[in-house]
Amino acid sequence: MARTSAGPHSKWWRSPATRALAGVATVAATAAVLVTAPGADAAASTLGAAAAQSGRYFGTAIAASKLGNSAYTTIAAREFNMVTPENEMKPDATEPNQNQFNFSSGDQIYNWAVGHGAKVRGHTLAWHAQQPGWMQNMGGSSLRNAMINHIQKVMAHYQGKLAYWDVVNEAFNEDGSRRSSNLQSTGNDWIEVAFKTARAADPSTKLCYNDYNIDNWNYGKTQGVYNMVRDFKSRGVPIDCVGLQAHFTGGSSVPSNLQTTISSFAALGVDVALTEVDVTNSSTSQYAALTQACMNVARCVGITVWGVRDSDSWRSNESPLLFDGNGNKKAAYNSVLNVLNSGGGTTTTPTTTPTDPTTTPTTTTTPGGGSCTASLSAGQSWSDRYNLNVSVSGASSWTVTMTVPSPARISATWNINATWPSSQVLVATPNGNGNNWGVTIQHNGNWNWPSVSCSSS
Ligand code: XIL
Repeated sequence: MARTSAGPHSKWWRSPATRALAGVATVAATAAVLVTAPGADAAASTLGAAAAQSGRYFGTAIAASKLGNSAYTTIAAREFNMVTPENEMKPDATEPNQNQFNFSSGDQIYNWAVGHGAKVRGHTLAWHAQQPGWMQNMGGSSLRNAMINHIQKVMAHYQGKLAYWDVVNEAFNEDGSRRSSNLQSTGNDWIEVAFKTARAADPSTKLCYNDYNIDNWNYGKTQGVYNMVRDFKSRGVPIDCVGLQAHFTGGSSVPSNLQTTISSFAALGVDVALTEVDVTNSSTSQYAALTQACMNVARCVGITVWGVRDSDSWRSNESPLLFDGNGNKKAAYNSVLNVLNSGGGTTTTPTTTPTDPTTTPTTTTTPGGGSCTASLSAGQSWSDRYNLNVSVSGASSWTVTMTVPSPARISATWNINATWPSSQVLVATPNGNGNNWGVTIQHNGNWNWPSVSCSSS
């Protein structure tokens, strides 16, 4: 996997236990050392590692049914540091009967991904397609309630685990109006209800709207989605990201204004990602162009291709992926890798260290119980977010409460059981893997470190 991955499960994180107990003076020094200068390293030799040089990820769709195929898993584990379940977290898979949930295939993919140092994008919670039969025949308030229940239960199962969730998928027509569906017929507010429900269910996960044919800035559908995101942002409806599926198959190709589209969405204050990329016959120039467009926009956080080898593609007759059916790298693979290695016009890698890491380690003694200490030290940082390492000492059974200063919010955690009273407050307990864990904080302009308190039991 990636050599300098951006994520909670990346290997750089696992190494220096020595950083974990650093005090403030050491923290500033550590933070300075950890800043990577773009292009300072030799070229990376895998997609994930190359993308990680600029704080981005490179992902793939994974099918649970193929996890027993070693040719498939060898490539997937080596090249990608983000995983999207191709079908296994869709409503028909996770709620086959109403209010009876099945996470076996989704969990299989999640566990495989995390075990190989990758993060996971959840896909998808509310969609007109791949609904279970019982849902297809529903409408009105019973469907609205079923959608809410589905989001709550599925997100509760994966709480604190997923980097992103595609909350709503493909809700627009080509002309920018809303697609008619049973969900749409429950009322035009169904999308914002889905996002509000999702935020309450798991404030740790970034919430995305995902669609196809929203790559061309001058297209009606792109404008329709853009106006919705702008409206949500202006009214405080929670949305963190937009996914451009970027299926350049079936006759479509990369528009010359793709970068404008990405930067325009990003300017609304959301992450942007290319989430399901495939390109007819793997045109090298189109793969290079879409990669460069992402690299040129700081908030384009990553690229996911929709499958590993051509033979794994849902459009295998168009040979649209980066590996051929025998697992060989195609020319398009090299064109993508080269662009990732050469960087972009702007990058997400900060040239300065976090400006105000002021928090000292905090000790709390609980009356009647033992005491414990939660110490913070700096992890990797990017322009929009930073990681903190947390080390708990003095007790093996502990509860750490962390509060980040608004408008910062906690966006990911690792190696803890997490509950989320709010997106600013995290309550952490051991997950059985010791006392060193971490968080990713989206600073939103406030680099001040969170306060922490520890109580033992
Ligand atoms: C596709 C899968 O790749 C297929 O295996 C499945 O039969 C149909 O769905 N947009 C999406 C994806 O958001 O979930 C779709 O995936 C492709 C189009």
